[in-house]
Amino acid sequence: MAQTNTIKHVASALARQTLQDSTLTRPVADKTPIRILPWLQVVKIGGRAIMDRGPEAILPVVDELRKLLPEHRMLILTGAGIRARHLYSVGLDLGLPVGSLAPLAASEAGQNGHMLAALLAPDGVSYIEPPTIASQLAIHLSAARAVVGSAFAPYHHHEFPHSRLPMHRADTGAFLLADALGAAGLTIVEDVDGICSTDPNGPDGDKAQWLGETSHAELARHTGSLPVDRALIDVMANARHIGRVQVVNGLVPGRITAALRGEHVGTLIRTGACVD
Ligand SMILES: Nc1ncnc2c1ncn2[C@@H]1O[C@H](COP(=O)(O)OP(=O)(O)OP(=O)(O)O)[C@@H](O)[C@H]1O
Ligand SMILES: [Mg+2]
Repeated sequence: MAQTNTIKHVASALARQTLQDSTLTRPVADKTPIRILPWLQVVKIGGRAIMDRGPEAILPVVDELRKLLPEHRMLILTGAGIRARHLYSVGLDLGLPVGSLAPLAASEAGQNGHMLAALLAPDGVSYIEPPTIASQLAIHLSAARAVVGSAFAPYHHHEFPHSRLPMHRADTGAFLLADALGAAGLTIVEDVDGICSTDPNGPDGDKAQWLGETSHAELARHTGSLPVDRALIDVMANARHIGRVQVVNGLVPGRITAALRGEHVGTLIRTGACVD
């Protein structure tokens, strides 16, 4: 029957070719993706830098986030912190594979998220799980000005076996989400003024120089430690929407607010999507 034939032969530009050859897929696949939530501000709160410090650090950050609610709609994502580090060491002693450690660390990030959401609950903010972020973020953000989630990407046993520790941690997860959603911005909240030439709290801290602006390419050449995941640097190279990420000090009141208003108050990292 003619109708059956039409259904069987669905016209598709990619139907007759391998997906392994980028010269064939590029004309179809290389279009700029749409921005799903162009007004969204994504804010990653450091697990170790902020949450592990307790009320002294957390309550002023909560206060600042609360005051930002009328101005911005936010996806607040939390990192894992010290409990995940303990978990990694116990898990590694037991010989657990990286794909088993990843969701355990992600659940620690989720615990931090639950605590932050509880403090913002009077303002209508709730914690939502990764599948809800994936499929129902828009409806949650039309009911509330902000939601909280775990910053970890849900890799589980799909985590890359490059190292014994999960390589896709909180910063990478936050960036992947912000870029996929075409968000207005991503702010990473630390306990230092941004990225320095060397760890300002390390043995050579007195020699540390603050970097006001840098790029994913420069950071890829940086051999020392960083306050962000290494995998973040790789992911940034292929960004589609987020042109700059700012790393700010959440222990200084007003820095998160200024960053969300587009002011330069920390380290700006240019990604592969940066046009200037
Ligand atoms: N080059 C560097 N520039 C600035 N800080 C650095 C650098 N290298 C290391 N650090 C350190 O990184 C610390 C932040 O640690 P880390 O990024 O692990 O915390 P976090 O972001 O809260 O953790 P999580 O990713 O679990 O949320 C800073 O306090 C600082 O001492
Ligand atoms: Mg960090």
